[in-house]
Amino acid sequence: MTASDNQIRIFDTTLRDGEQSPGASMTLEEKLQIADILDDMGVDIIEAGFPIASNGDFEAVSEIAKASRNSVIAGLARAIHADIDRCGEAVKHANRGRIHTFVSTSPIHLKYQMNKSEEQVLDIITDTVTRARNLIDDVEWSAMDATRTPIDYLCRCVEAAIKCGATTINLPDTVGYATPDEYKQMFADVIARVPNSDKAIFSVHCHDDLGLAVANSLAGVAGGARQIECTINGLGERAGNAALEEIVMAIRTRGDVLPYQCNVDPKFLTRASKLVAGASGFAVQYNKAIVGKNAFAHESGIHQDGMLKNAETYEIMRPEDVGVKATSLIMGKHSGRHAFKDKLKELGFELGDNALQDAFRRFKDLADRKKHVYDEDIEALVENEIATATE
Ligand code: KIV
Ligand code: ZN
Repeated sequence: MTASDNQIRIFDTTLRDGEQSPGASMTLEEKLQIADILDDMGVDIIEAGFPIASNGDFEAVSEIAKASRNSVIAGLARAIHADIDRCGEAVKHANRGRIHTFVSTSPIHLKYQMNKSEEQVLDIITDTVTRARNLIDDVEWSAMDATRTPIDYLCRCVEAAIKCGATTINLPDTVGYATPDEYKQMFADVIARVPNSDKAIFSVHCHDDLGLAVANSLAGVAGGARQIECTINGLGERAGNAALEEIVMAIRTRGDVLPYQCNVDPKFLTRASKLVAGASGFAVQYNKAIVGKNAFAHESGIHQDGMLKNAETYEIMRPEDVGVKATSLIMGKHSGRHAFKDKLKELGFELGDNALQDAFRRFKDLADRKKHVYDEDIEALVENEIATATE
């Protein structure tokens, strides 16, 4: 990687880390459909599953690899020969396959999860990255729980992985513990200190336990990372992973302060979000950034008035850019006269000043009683108004 390379590789792990959300498992058919849209939208790397986890996962990764067109297809493997070999078998069908292998590096994981010393883990890294590189050229190595790993030891681990041929180095915030400044600094330090760090692309992988996953991902990029691991709708373990749609739109919308490019076509974002919500059974919250039902909806009178004059008053992105047909001005008790008049026009009604005044008052009364005021409610109300006026 060179310093002037501002291209961000988008690595989607909806089908692996996303599926690890309790209750989010997906069928082979659903996974193939999701991989298809990810490939179409320009995702650079699709992590299709964890081939050793089950025969179903192996089949999913193999089938996605066979159907892949432009995206690199990655599979996950623990630092165990059997995992790595199985992963190599699954991804070999892809035009471009990747083995993604990982091991924990933090003191708490070494002590309680692995019962291994630092030196033993270094040997494991050397052994397993070499094994993976003997199967495939594209090898990603991850330091699980990197953000709780002392920097000197983390640098030694990264150095070993690069020496054995890892071409991507991922430093995950596995438990969503880091703050943006810390995460940025970790990348800057590792990249500056590890010999030959320019031989690998550095990658961020952030969990959302403190709601910082997207901010941390962008901070990691500021520290020198050029791959972002993320999921559609932020699906993932516990509080989830960084949301792909938020990252893509942050980069597109704030190019003035985030001077990076990525290949993802945002027009696919809404469709992908709906597909993943349906397949995983995890509904998207109404106020979710970019893809929530309310992301381009306005109810307050002041906002609706502004929107009718110029959409940029209250929208920083155009709904069409992310695959939403249009902004919606929701008629409710906060709506103002301007939006009400506009809605009547849309429904084919033109009222005189007095009738409009009266209809608006009745609409407000109705909105006070009803949570949702539908077009049919407004039609009934106006027809009633016209009938009363002509009696
Ligand atoms: O969160 C994490 O550390 C992971 C690794 C397997 C990359 O998902
Ligand atoms: Zn993860």
